[in-house]
Amino acid sequence: MPEEGGIMSRRPLLAGNWKMHMNIAEAEALASAIVRASIPEDRDVMLAPPYTALAAVGRVLAGSSVMLGAQNVCWEEKGAFTGEISPLMLQDVGCRMVLLGHSERRHIFGETDEMVNKRVAAALRFGLVPVLCIGETLDERESGHTFSVLERQLRSGLKDINPGAGNDLVVAYEPVWAIGTGKTASIEQAQEAHFFVRDLLAGMYEKNIATQMRILYGGSVNSDNVDSLMSQPDVDGALVGGAALKADSFIRIIHFNS
Ligand code: 13P
Repeated sequence: MPEEGGIMSRRPLLAGNWKMHMNIAEAEALASAIVRASIPEDRDVMLAPPYTALAAVGRVLAGSSVMLGAQNVCWEEKGAFTGEISPLMLQDVGCRMVLLGHSERRHIFGETDEMVNKRVAAALRFGLVPVLCIGETLDERESGHTFSVLERQLRSGLKDINPGAGNDLVVAYEPVWAIGTGKTASIEQAQEAHFFVRDLLAGMYEKNIATQMRILYGGSVNSDNVDSLMSQPDVDGALVGGAALKADSFIRIIHFNS
């Protein structure tokens, strides 16, 4: 559907972040169910399994339109980086996207904006689409700091980053207080934050890049609330945790509004 100015609208992206769930057999079964579901042609789907299941899920997704994603990537290609995963390793198993700066990485494992920025740069260098996750905690929201936190995380995460085109990079707004809590942001809160992020991007990059870049919402998205969230003009997709672990609920999410 053309938007104002004749620019084509952004292709919705429905992404499942499986976090630290699923053994290989479970991951293969879930990925197969999603591949078998007929996915409307006007949207993209991505699955981010745990590292141990990447290769197996990659084989299940091969030849389908569903993209493989990873949950993090190191800024180095190889070497003494125990516990990290190289962008070359992700390429090797067929990854196309990678989640970066997820709030669980930031808040449980102490990842800084500077580390996230190095990961974003590495992902782009190796042709992986970074999904840069940003979002405020409940304390930050209640003390009126939501927008300054989003601005800091966005500007630092994208420091010296030049996406070649609007679809080279994805931003995910995930308010920390909405993750895994069953407490979704209201559609007004989501739209307000997404609009703010797009406006910042428009100041950082050429306007058409900001217009084309997808901004996903994440935080207790489920089959009941996905339609209303996706009805918001600046919500271009969903990054789904818990509800992506069951085939029926994720397939319903993929079929939002259809
Ligand atoms: P939930 O959907 O379980 O709230 O998780 C959201 C999330 O963190 C996706 O990255």
